[in-house]
Amino acid sequence: MRQLIVAANWKMNLTRQEGIALISEVVPMVRDQVHTKVKVVLCVPFPFIGFAKRFFQSQKNIALGAQNCYYKPAGAYTGEISAPMLKSFDVDYVIIGHSERRQYFGETEEVLAEKVRQVIANQMHPIFCCGESLQTRQSGYHINFVRQQLSQSLFHLSAEDFAKVVIAYEPIWAIGTGHNATAQQAQEMHFALRQHIASVYGQEIAQQTTILYGGSCNANNAPEIFACPDVDGGLIGGASLKSSEFTNICKSFPLYKLIAD
Ligand code: PGA
Repeated sequence: MRQLIVAANWKMNLTRQEGIALISEVVPMVRDQVHTKVKVVLCVPFPFIGFAKRFFQSQKNIALGAQNCYYKPAGAYTGEISAPMLKSFDVDYVIIGHSERRQYFGETEEVLAEKVRQVIANQMHPIFCCGESLQTRQSGYHINFVRQQLSQSLFHLSAEDFAKVVIAYEPIWAIGTGHNATAQQAQEMHFALRQHIASVYGQEIAQQTTILYGGSCNANNAPEIFACPDVDGGLIGGASLKSSEFTNICKSFPLYKLIAD
């Protein structure tokens, strides 16, 4: 079966003290309450990466994630963070192509393709974000648009490398707005993306690919969204900053997904 994942995207929030307080609450809650089949990925801000792992060293279903990396491995790029640096701090997952990066930092599909390559070359998993604007959805081209994002940034990968990618479908109109996609909208897109992956890499790889939903996901709407057959978890922004809310999201999978092999 596909790996179920709930990833926290803390974005640019919290001080060191607040980050330590949140992680100290989340880790024991995940240990005691969340099914071991669910992998919880904490994508913390860069300065927290050095200490975050200490809080869950022996807990196999929690992993460390970063929110971005540079597309070159090293060099004179003042202020940037490389994939080899992240790997050397035990990072396992890196969010690539979040819509905020695309929108505020002008990241293009070409740059994202390079970033994905870097992450995989350093034995980590990209969490590749895709998703349409409200305007694109209203025009009716949203499925083609998101398929295109995958084609341009991911389909240069070999099948072996593609199998390491996690996809996060995050409609831009749902991010931080309180207007989540409905379960039907999420399922329709996830199914279309899985088919698109199958057309290039075959059914077996498509069926193994974890596709997360993100955008105003919370403990109330997660059970319905996670119940969709092609939704394998979530990428959680605002609601990941509250320990019990986040833990409840991690507990929102239907039983049949937890007992499947
Ligand atoms: P949100 O953010 O849960 O606050 O909508 C999700 C994301 O941007 O990853």
